[in-house]
Amino acid sequence: MGWPLERLRRVRFVRRFSRTERTLHWVNAAGFLLLLASGLILYLPRLSVLVGRRPLIKDVHLWGGIGWIGALAIVVLLGDRRGILRTARELEVLEPSRFNVGQKVNALLNAAFALLFLVSGLLLWFGERDTRFRFTSTVLLHDILMYAALTLLVGHLYLAVIHPATRHSLRGMTRGTVREDWAKRHYPRWAPPPAD
Ligand code: HEM
Repeated sequence: MGWPLERLRRVRFVRRFSRTERTLHWVNAAGFLLLLASGLILYLPRLSVLVGRRPLIKDVHLWGGIGWIGALAIVVLLGDRRGILRTARELEVLEPSRFNVGQKVNALLNAAFALLFLVSGLLLWFGERDTRFRFTSTVLLHDILMYAALTLLVGHLYLAVIHPATRHSLRGMTRGTVREDWAKRHYPRWAPPPAD
């Protein structure tokens, strides 16, 4: 008797994401999903008719976009800035470490997309008020970004929530820790700090 306790004792956890990293991720995800939903309502004629209230949805989309980037900046400014800088440096080098190559490419693309979404979105907004800011391909860029970001998101959600081998990662993004044996198997080159 007593073996379940033994087994429980052997399950050790290591720290995967700091509080700042997790806050940044979830603020980013919430903002992105709000913009995706409001953007799709503006973009798809059927949804547009179904929901109506176009001026309101447009306001939600515009201020949601500004709020999204602003909220990310606030999390970085008030959070563990050094830790975020360390993570950014880790992501710059494509060799696997705490993240595999796919995750690094995903993170870099997400950062580039956020910037391009912001620039093209602001140009669309200014363009409505001043013809000097009107360019023929701004709408196209904004739309292509949406398709690309949506494709990445579907893959990301599959790995984070459905795929049996990888979905344990969700614990890292919610509680901050993952099982040590899982970490060793998935990230052999990562030397994780123990969970406190
Ligand atoms: C709303 C549902 C979402 C869930 C459940 C989710 C889940 C996760 C998990 C579990 C990780 C950690 C993977 C690891 O252990 O390394 C992660 C990382 C990450 N997530 Fe999400 N995420 C969501 C939405 C988003 C959205 C909307 C974006 C961006 C638009 C995003 C961008 C990222 C990035 C850039 C990373 C770091 C690199 C990577 O692991 O690919 N996530 N997410």
